Amino acid sequence: MEVDETIDFQPPTLKDAFSAIQTIQHFFTFNEDLKEDKAYKRYIWKKIGSADTLEIVATRSAGSEPSTPDDNVNVVVRVRPLCEKEKKGGHGMVLQFPGNGQIMCEGKAMGNNGGPNIKVFTYNVVFEPGATQDDILQYSGVKRLIEMAIEGFSCTAFCYGQTGSGKTHTLTGPPGLFHGKPNPKDERHGLIFRSFVYLFQRLQEHKDMHFILKASFLEIYNEKVIDLLNPGSARKPLAVRWSKKSRGFYVENLFTVDCEELDDLLAVLEEGMRNRVVGSHQMNDHSSRSHTMLTVHITSEQQAEGGVFISKQGKIHFVDLAGSEMTKKTMSEGTTLEEANNINKSLMVLGYCIASLSDNKKRSGHIPYRDSQLTKLLADSLAGNGVTLMIACVSPAYSNYAETLNTLRYASRAKRIRTKPIIIMDPREALILSLKRDVNALHIENEHLKAALNLQNETLALRALTDSSHDRTHIPEAPKVDLERLAELEASELAELVKLYMVENKALRHENSDLFSTREMILHDHEVVCRENERLLKKLEDVNSVCVRSPLISSQPAISSTPSLEGGSEIWTNPNQESNGGQKPKTETLDGRLSTNITNIPESIQKEMDKRRIGENILNMANNFHRQNTDRSSSGDSTKNDKLNGRIMEDKRATFVPDMLT
Ligand SMILES: Nc1ncnc2c1ncn2[C@@H]1O[C@H](COP(=O)(O)OP(=O)(O)OP(=O)(O)O)[C@@H](O)[C@H]1O
Ligand SMILES: [Mg+2]
Repeated sequence: MEVDETIDFQPPTLKDAFSAIQTIQHFFTFNEDLKEDKAYKRYIWKKIGSADTLEIVATRSAGSEPSTPDDNVNVVVRVRPLCEKEKKGGHGMVLQFPGNGQIMCEGKAMGNNGGPNIKVFTYNVVFEPGATQDDILQYSGVKRLIEMAIEGFSCTAFCYGQTGSGKTHTLTGPPGLFHGKPNPKDERHGLIFRSFVYLFQRLQEHKDMHFILKASFLEIYNEKVIDLLNPGSARKPLAVRWSKKSRGFYVENLFTVDCEELDDLLAVLEEGMRNRVVGSHQMNDHSSRSHTMLTVHITSEQQAEGGVFISKQGKIHFVDLAGSEMTKKTMSEGTTLEEANNINKSLMVLGYCIASLSDNKKRSGHIPYRDSQLTKLLADSLAGNGVTLMIACVSPAYSNYAETLNTLRYASRAKRIRTKPIIIMDPREALILSLKRDVNALHIENEHLKAALNLQNETLALRALTDSSHDRTHIPEAPKVDLERLAELEASELAELVKLYMVENKALRHENSDLFSTREMILHDHEVVCRENERLLKKLEDVNSVCVRSPLISSQPAISSTPSLEGGSEIWTNPNQESNGGQKPKTETLDGRLSTNITNIPESIQKEMDKRRIGENILNMANNFHRQNTDRSSSGDSTKNDKLNGRIMEDKRATFVPDMLT
């Protein structure tokens, strides 16, 4: 059953009614089973939360698939287990998991129609309470995000949800893990640690590339941006500014650390975790009082043909948001209350941005990114050129029904947000890469042309040969005559012989003229293809020359598969997914035009081009000359046209005989 959005159980349409009934049936059967058979219950929980089920869901979900250039935000939900406090308080589970990425939320109050108040949501993946930390790495789609960051995309994984729902646990593990030296083999390590390990595994597979890794770690505490790697004793806040060049917000003077090894990255994580602000309230003893953003910048350099280096700048942000709080429930006061107000305010702005971006009508209007530091820094991830994974964390307890429902609703909205991922490259390198692709396309075209030319010549030659041998059977052959015995022949025999020769002569003349026209046709075709080849060769040389002098050509900001709004750049699709939605790259075609103006070809290249053209012409002339010679010598006696040559000889002789007789 597919349920894309929340179903309020007053079925809005008949179409939904059937699926709603199915859902209810499924839910009640499932519930009955759970009540009746505890062993079955254990089995079901194990089964649903098991890697097998997750694998199926993950395969189906976009989470493990490569993101397309025009992709939705990928949303997964993680439900933490009931905590000790909730268990002691007798809080029941408010959530059920029918499978297929669905999650059911049953409220205590009755629905408007007097029936049970059940909402059903569908996401890319739902992680049930039994899911392990490793399951999150394997099935959330974060692996693909890391791969895309290596490929040059800007990626973000962020955790969203109420306080105490398990955001920090998901990203970094339980509290206290970073006190002292953490054990790398600890099963409790969160997504960031596991992602770093996976990142280094992948980097080692790219032997042909050179990588430079840098990392930064910041927090937004009470609307102030603090550098977690260099907080200073005064924890002086850093400014968030708008960059005209990159068309995005950035943090001024943020410390970035070079990370050559995995340990360097892990040290950044540990240092930041130690410096971030954590507080305590009624709902979480180790509540994050700030939003944190850990960023790994990945610059890759790869040597392309011709000794040119292509470099790409990808990055991946891990964002641990502070959780929304109902201050009555958390019983916050003093500093904690001020923190809670700031957290709630920034989350409200984030929620408003998500709501606007997911609404088709509002998307093109004003989005209030500037209203909080958090939304400024997440702007690019939510609506820009990034690839985004949202991990919505929820509590399964009845006591958190309202907050859980709220998070699930926001997660559903976030699913509708679309971004336009692009690879960030140096403009000149982007141009070189694009031209190289043009050159490759031209090479392929040229090969095709050559193949077509050979094929055509062979076909025509074959046809000419077949036709001639075919016609030959229709040409009446005159008997051979011994010239010395000619005088002994009777007048009537001679007259008959002359008649036969005249008929054969006529047929041969006809055949000759056919062969000549075929030859003309072949020569004409050959000339056309030669000219086309020459034209293509010239363009290839032109494009090559542009590659060589690309630094002089005006720059493009990035490459992409669809024209972007600014600067006429193109979106470059994921290299593993060559398809770009049916749009042709900016490339040269047979009837094509060069997309870049080419002027001032360097003298050396001009000479080389001239040399090649002259060489080509000489080769053509030589071929023509050779062919003409072959045609002329076809009157000789040792070619494959022996029979034909023989007939031409006889033709001459036949013409001679009547003259002699008259
Ligand atoms: N999947 C889980 N398995 C076991 N324990 C969990 C899980 N998720 C969360 N917890 C525990 O629940 C408590 C609260 O989790 P956590 O601090 O991660 O919540 P949070 O969403 O970050 O809250 P806040 O917004 O207040 O920072 C922690 O003790 C954590 O270890
Ligand atoms: Mg937290």
